[in-house]
Amino acid sequence: MKRKPVIAIDGPAGSGKSTIAKLVAFALGFHYIDTGAMYRAITLKALREGTDRKSETALTELAGRTKIGFEYGAVLKVFIDGADVTEAIRLPEVSKASSDIADSRGVRQALVKKQQEMGAAGGVIMDGRDIGSVVFPDAEVKIYLDAAVEERAARRYKELTEKGIKTVLSLVRQDIAERDERDRNRLFGALVKVKDAVTVDTTGLSIEQVTAKINGIIKEKL
Ligand code: DC
Repeated sequence: MKRKPVIAIDGPAGSGKSTIAKLVAFALGFHYIDTGAMYRAITLKALREGTDRKSETALTELAGRTKIGFEYGAVLKVFIDGADVTEAIRLPEVSKASSDIADSRGVRQALVKKQQEMGAAGGVIMDGRDIGSVVFPDAEVKIYLDAAVEERAARRYKELTEKGIKTVLSLVRQDIAERDERDRNRLFGALVKVKDAVTVDTTGLSIEQVTAKINGIIKEKL
């Protein structure tokens, strides 16, 4: 039997992927799979265990024995080995270290395999960096969300401040620019705009405007 559609949303940090993907998934009755949360979960565990981030062997072994779970509800909850890490994976130190961990070929292989299993039946919206290029190159809908770095930094700063995490806008901007650089240049699973993806620049647009654009693209494609 043919699987249900897969909608791939890729783009740099802070481009609005998760906010939009959640809304669109809810409207379509699809599952939302946040692949960045999976890289963050492995990162958090590596930080907690003091894993040598330069050791490919140690990272591959860690990814192999870590169970990542999601619970769908009003808030998407993320679990590592049964423990709720929804909040902890959003801490700035985890964001910063996550692009290091995402360079690991072993970690990527383990997570891509899990993502492909999770989306095998379709009916999913998956967001990340390599969904349309590596995880589901045959996705029915591919969207590349982008926005100016200043706006992405301002959004992330607001998000963190609202959660009570103290930080400075210039630091958030620097972190985002550094992650962009690494996400675009890694050897495996780099952030790329694939030829068959539709680009949506969200700079200056409201959540409602972006959602309307994405819904229009999906309607046209499916
Ligand atoms: O989207 P995010 O900020 O939650 O992602 C966290 C990190 O994981 C980010 O540095 C890029 C990486 N990542 C990746 O390499 N591939 C994905 N499919 C998703 C995220």
